[in-house]
Amino acid sequence: MEDRTDFIVIGSGIAGLRAAVALAGAGRVTVLTKDQVTESNTEYAQGGIAVVLGDDDTIGLHFQDTIDAGAGLCDEQAVTTLVEEGPRYITELIEHGAEFDRADGRLAFTREAAHSRSRILHSRGDATGREIVRALVGWSRKFSNIEYLPHACTQSLIVNDGRSVGVTYVEPVSHKIRALYSRATVMATGGAGQLYLHTTNPDVATGDGQAMAYRAGAIIADMEFVQFHPTALAIKGAPRFLLSEAMRGEGGILLNDAGERFMPRYDERAELAPRDVVSRSVHFEMQRTSSANVWLDMRHLDHDYVRNRFPKIHHTCQLYNIDIARDLIPVSPAAHYTMGGVRTDTFGRTSIAGLYAAGEVSCTGVHGANRLASNSLLEGLVFGARAGEAATVEAPASIAPAPPPDWDYGSEADFTIDDGTRMEVKRIMWDRVGILRSEETLKEALASLEEIAARPLNTRSWNFVTLARLVAEAALARCESRGAHYRSDFPERDDEHFRHHTLQQRGHPTPIQGEGE
Ligand code: FAD
Ligand code: SIN
Repeated sequence: MEDRTDFIVIGSGIAGLRAAVALAGAGRVTVLTKDQVTESNTEYAQGGIAVVLGDDDTIGLHFQDTIDAGAGLCDEQAVTTLVEEGPRYITELIEHGAEFDRADGRLAFTREAAHSRSRILHSRGDATGREIVRALVGWSRKFSNIEYLPHACTQSLIVNDGRSVGVTYVEPVSHKIRALYSRATVMATGGAGQLYLHTTNPDVATGDGQAMAYRAGAIIADMEFVQFHPTALAIKGAPRFLLSEAMRGEGGILLNDAGERFMPRYDERAELAPRDVVSRSVHFEMQRTSSANVWLDMRHLDHDYVRNRFPKIHHTCQLYNIDIARDLIPVSPAAHYTMGGVRTDTFGRTSIAGLYAAGEVSCTGVHGANRLASNSLLEGLVFGARAGEAATVEAPASIAPAPPPDWDYGSEADFTIDDGTRMEVKRIMWDRVGILRSEETLKEALASLEEIAARPLNTRSWNFVTLARLVAEAALARCESRGAHYRSDFPERDDEHFRHHTLQQRGHPTPIQGEGE
């Protein structure tokens, strides 16, 4: 069965919702989303959104902090766009109902690692993402031409003559594959944390967008750069709930099993060193002391302040009999953010005409080899809007529909990632393509992933395994350590040979060396 709309948006996180609003002036917008509209990484974002709106801050400082975190691989034009456009889009979001925390009536900013100023806006303490989703959904509901299709999982992109003309998705009621055609598509499917055994990401974050785009022939970039967050709740059997970096920003410290504060031994910035440094230090410390976790300590801070500043974290930890103000909190690293993704320019244009990408699914180049904390919500907002704005101007008046790709037909059971495959891949990725990698572990990972890929897999399982292979191949090709990518066999950064992006495209057997900074 076939259907038509003007614009398709895939995903309802910050990037997809903001893109939908931008598109609404130009025609009918259909937002396909895999679960309920509010289920996304955005919904769970805690720490906040970075923006230059404070009196002591400047665009130049935010630019420099972002460049420094990116370890030589940020695209300066993309970073300039992010930091310069950020204040305008945040102000507009506030005008459309987003409520950020205030002190004495003025916006309150917190500090996170590697930021030289307190520039992180937050909402209801640690419920920033939920507030942003609430505000954006409210704003989008004002447009009668934006329609939502929840529980509609997109399977594939339909490409005709090099142009993206639509998608196939699983229709939620009939569970049949259906084609939907559009003049342009904005992909905003988020990250791929679920590739890893331990992740802060919700179940929806399986990297479908990157895999669909790759399968359709788009260029994918920098997949080796996976950010691990140092402090996810580490209780056996419990979800890897995030303990925001803002807790360290407010004075929290990390202790090892012997009760010793260890971060100053690894980096002079201690707990506020960049996230990759803290994650690796925690990893080394756990190895050194043969323990399954380290401890986050907030006990020296004002108890009421801590509980009120982090109400969601306080509530969740209480479920596990932990009082964040009085008890040590067990933490260990978990996969958190995908720096790589579908290569775009600063208007979200991908290498396929008519296909735009924004947010975590994309690789605009703003994060380089390592994302600065709280820059991703800002990226989703700014580039979601810009992708939508570009699509309204550039979309053709009509398109010629083409048949869906033939891999899309199958039985109903074909529409989910097979559980066995999912767990196998997640273990391989955690054990062999994780915080530390080496040629040996990466080759082992690739051999196992190739063996899995050779099995008869349904489309979604194939996508999942393929994405894992892209990460491992990119990591193998980068024989240096940079940002979030740490090779134990090449522990130094090598600007002479590796100050370039890693590009991958279907049909090209090895990663292609992309342009430099
Ligand atoms: P998402 O918000 O992940 O949305 C993706 C959407 O695509 C979802 O609606 C999903 O259901 C849908 N989707 C996926 N696949 C399909 C498919 N096949 N078909 C249809 N729909 C699909 N960043 C910050 O800047 N500040 C923070 O404080 C912060 N805290 C975080 C805390 C946690 C626990 C996590 C996990 C992340 C955090 N991040 C934070 C990162 C940030 O939340 C994400 O990078 C950002 O929200 C991504 O937005 P997005 O719109 O690109 O994707
Ligand atoms: C956090 O609150 O620690 C997450 C912030 C981010 O990922 O940017």
